[in-house]
Amino acid sequence: MCGIVGFTGNRQAAPVLLDGLSKLEYRGYDSAGIAVRDGESKTEIIKEKGKLKVLAEMTDYGKAVKGTCGIGHTRWATHGEPSAVNAHPHSSDDGNVIAVHNGIIENFQEQREKLIKKGYVFHSQTDTEVAVKMIDYYYKKYSQQPIEAIARAMVRIRGSYALCVMFKDFPGEIYCARKDSPMIIGIADGESYVASDVPAILKYTRNVYYIGNMEIAKLEKGNVTFYNIDSEVLEKQLTEIKWDAESAEKGGYEHFMLKEIHEQPKVIRDTINSVVTDGKVHFDSVNLTDEEMQQIGLIYIVACGSAYHVGMDLQYVIESLTSLQVRVELASEFRYRKMTLNKKSLVIVISQSGETADTLAALREAKEQGIKTLGIVNVVGSSIAREADNVFYTLAGPEISVATTKAYSTQLVAGYLLALQFAKARGEIEETKYNELLEAIYSIPDKVERILEDKERLQWFSAKLINVGDAFFIGRGIDYAIGMEGSLKLKEISYIHSEAYAAGELKHGPISLIENGTIVISIVTQNGLIEKTVSNMVEVKSRGAKVMAVTETGNYFLEDTAEFVCYVPRIEPLFAGSLSVIPLQLLSYYVSIGKGFDVDKPRNLAKSVTVE
Ligand code: G6P
Repeated sequence: MCGIVGFTGNRQAAPVLLDGLSKLEYRGYDSAGIAVRDGESKTEIIKEKGKLKVLAEMTDYGKAVKGTCGIGHTRWATHGEPSAVNAHPHSSDDGNVIAVHNGIIENFQEQREKLIKKGYVFHSQTDTEVAVKMIDYYYKKYSQQPIEAIARAMVRIRGSYALCVMFKDFPGEIYCARKDSPMIIGIADGESYVASDVPAILKYTRNVYYIGNMEIAKLEKGNVTFYNIDSEVLEKQLTEIKWDAESAEKGGYEHFMLKEIHEQPKVIRDTINSVVTDGKVHFDSVNLTDEEMQQIGLIYIVACGSAYHVGMDLQYVIESLTSLQVRVELASEFRYRKMTLNKKSLVIVISQSGETADTLAALREAKEQGIKTLGIVNVVGSSIAREADNVFYTLAGPEISVATTKAYSTQLVAGYLLALQFAKARGEIEETKYNELLEAIYSIPDKVERILEDKERLQWFSAKLINVGDAFFIGRGIDYAIGMEGSLKLKEISYIHSEAYAAGELKHGPISLIENGTIVISIVTQNGLIEKTVSNMVEVKSRGAKVMAVTETGNYFLEDTAEFVCYVPRIEPLFAGSLSVIPLQLLSYYVSIGKGFDVDKPRNLAKSVTVE
């Protein structure tokens, strides 16, 4: 999704903007641009299709652009093809209003037509140009006050936006408005920053303000004022970001994805330690009481992408440890399905970014129906974190690679702890079993470390996948849930067509696609289901498939069927997913780099999907 950076201070703005935008590249983009204001008079707009490098070269890495106040943008096309004309910033024809925007303005056609009748001319196909000209119109028609003009436009715009606007009459100032699209504001001595996400400004400041929905902010050098839609001043608390700047850098690794894969032992440990003390899970920070956990009968887990796969895994864990029923829902479906939610339920939304549009909308739908909500969220202060009744923060730190690894793993472990606590609060688990399971959770980081030490074998096997066209992941129960994540990882970064199937479903269709050389990756960790999955492996092998297996140490008999077996340490089967997913992440990584792809920024994908 689009990325936004803005800066006003006493140093040259363009290098800060380009540097900040480079930290947002992971969001996905097809063009980029900056607008920099040089004192009272001139504003220079430079924008181009393609990578940021193009823009950097055009401006001598920003050094050639004078001025200390500016806004920048990386565009991920929604309305209008990727081109220099459609790239942001957009400007009113007289340069009165210049803006960048992330989000989608749904009623832009209607507003565009109204503005054309009033004499406005449009040069791009974007919805953003409509917002710019609306603000220009209200500015000129009424009091010529930026806050009021933006507020008037906001009440007429339907959709989502994070907007940064500069006005010709107000040099050195940036005005921001937000509805349902991420935006944070940073402050340092004599400098103010605005960005779509923390990594863009982490190098300069860790002091941030969160701008709320339907709020406006005025940025001056080292000072920010917030307003509501009625132009009344709002008081805000400054928050300190705990992430250090280094965690948003590659730190010696060739790619963010590899770095993040290797960070997993640490971040899983941190997430466990955030709620476990003295051998017990304490949910004070999550704010969910034992009484509340006793009263709930049904849990809906709602999420998108890999976070949805976490939910798929947790369904097995929660249902096996408690008498709770669990329904796992894709947020994009859940939000539009007209259903009455069970009054005795809890809606758990899982989201790394805390900004995924569908997940946020699903959360709001649940709240509207009066259902209690819990967010498992990574980004502190994100929309979901702020709006959910309760929050369990995963401590994955900034995740830059589009394909999630460490956030997924911390979400999974947060879910395990939640399941365990539900079982305890409801009196559904014995003390010894509780301690045993907690021990098992504690052992996850070390076991992940051991898997990572043995990654060369996977690298060797990955070479066999480089030229394949299709891959199938099969498994039963938790192994099926992990197969879904493995399959997504492979397809999103290596562009190999891949599907995950519950192994028992093979005979209902997919087996017809198996032919000589088809790759089948089988996850085999669940006691009681192993033999059944092995017979599925035999079935595909006899039809020519090349079979790989991920299983636990000791299951050497799988080598009779599989061409390549990857072993992970033994663990309580309920938590096996936290280990078996690691080789699948590594495998996808190696296949992607083996094919020469940009593993951290796969084509057409964005890290956080903040529009529908
Ligand atoms: C995108 C990302 C995935 C992520 C999904 C949900 O598709 O590439 O890695 O799982 O969005 O994002 P969220 O921020 O809500 O976890």
